[in-house]
Amino acid sequence: MPAAPEIREAILKGSWIRKMFEEGAQLKAAVGADKVFDFTLGNPYGAPPDRLVAEIARLADHPSLDLHKYMPNAGFPEVRDAIARSLAGSTGVPFSGAMVVMTAGAAGALNVALHALLSPGDEVVVVAPYFVEYLFYIRNAGGVPVVVESDADFRLDMAAIGSSLSARTKAVIINTPNNPTGAIYPEADLRALDALLAKKESSDGNPVYVLSDEPYRKIVYPGDTFAPPAASLRNCLVAYSHSKDLNVPGERIGYLAVSPNAADAPEIAEACVFCNRTLGFVNAPSLMQRAVASLQDEPADLSVYTANRNALLDCLSQAGFNVKAPGGAFYLFVPSPAADEMIFVAAAREENVLVVPGTGFGRSGHFRVAFCVSPETVERSLPAWRRLGEKFFGKAGGGA
Ligand SMILES: Cc1ncc(COP(=O)(O)O)c(C=O)c1O
Repeated sequence: MPAAPEIREAILKGSWIRKMFEEGAQLKAAVGADKVFDFTLGNPYGAPPDRLVAEIARLADHPSLDLHKYMPNAGFPEVRDAIARSLAGSTGVPFSGAMVVMTAGAAGALNVALHALLSPGDEVVVVAPYFVEYLFYIRNAGGVPVVVESDADFRLDMAAIGSSLSARTKAVIINTPNNPTGAIYPEADLRALDALLAKKESSDGNPVYVLSDEPYRKIVYPGDTFAPPAASLRNCLVAYSHSKDLNVPGERIGYLAVSPNAADAPEIAEACVFCNRTLGFVNAPSLMQRAVASLQDEPADLSVYTANRNALLDCLSQAGFNVKAPGGAFYLFVPSPAADEMIFVAAAREENVLVVPGTGFGRSGHFRVAFCVSPETVERSLPAWRRLGEKFFGKAGGGA
């Protein structure tokens, strides 16, 4: 039996991140892993923090009777309460455990929320450049993505968002700190978005929910601060994940939290619990729910990311690239020196440097560098970046 045509089509178009990652695997097999500088995948660098490892060991060694059993589809009540307390502390909004649903990462949270909110044909506004999976998640739920461009600084463009709203708009997805740009949305912009959506709601009576996808909110560099969208946006659903802050993307643990300020919040939360079950997740992994409960306020380890970010920023800017410092996350999103970024991506590959074309994020003319790699990889890649600078700009990068 052939696969459904729309799935075959989606596979053909594919994810550029995966394509480049697979290409990287072939290149590593051909020339040796130490000669390939793979900046394609957003896999966090480093081991999970000791506190998490100890907590997993403690739970596994002394399991409570209910540890490996089904639990309410929303997750363990005491874990949801711990999350609500932490969120209330960081946002000033009185989140309650009853409005928190434990999910299989942020991906699970977004799918649950979209299924809970959308009827077939409902529209969801997505800001480009975007995490490409959003388009598939929206379609999973029968929705229609409506893409708007961000402004020149990769911030929210209120005029563009305003003109994209229609009677069918059910949600807007925002992602701060952003993958792929590293942009952090300031509080004033979040307030402006709230005002825009409130105006629309008062004109047609339909609330527009903001899905705040914030798996990088603890990965913020000195000089920048994360403004929690839930503090400024009334109809906010927070999608969070421990993939990036605790370095456990394979363990699939995150949550969706519905703001108590959101229109029909209890009904939305109940719908999300239902969708967590009927999408087949049933519940988030039980051991990991318990393991992360006491680590809600654990900071992410930024030491390697900060060093990698600074080294690459220095080298690329001295090599001639027009690179901006990301406020958060672990990506550089760089204008391509060739108008067709595939020409640059191919030239980089010749140097065994693997990056993802901006097309993969809905913004051509750019490439993304995921710097969540070892400092040695960054260090060894610098001569290749300098040669790329010479090739495209005719001048060498700085440093030895
Ligand atoms: C912006 C963004 N949202 C969501 C996800 C999904 O993360 P998770 O592993 O929590 O499902 C990712 C993963 O890279 C991401 O970059």
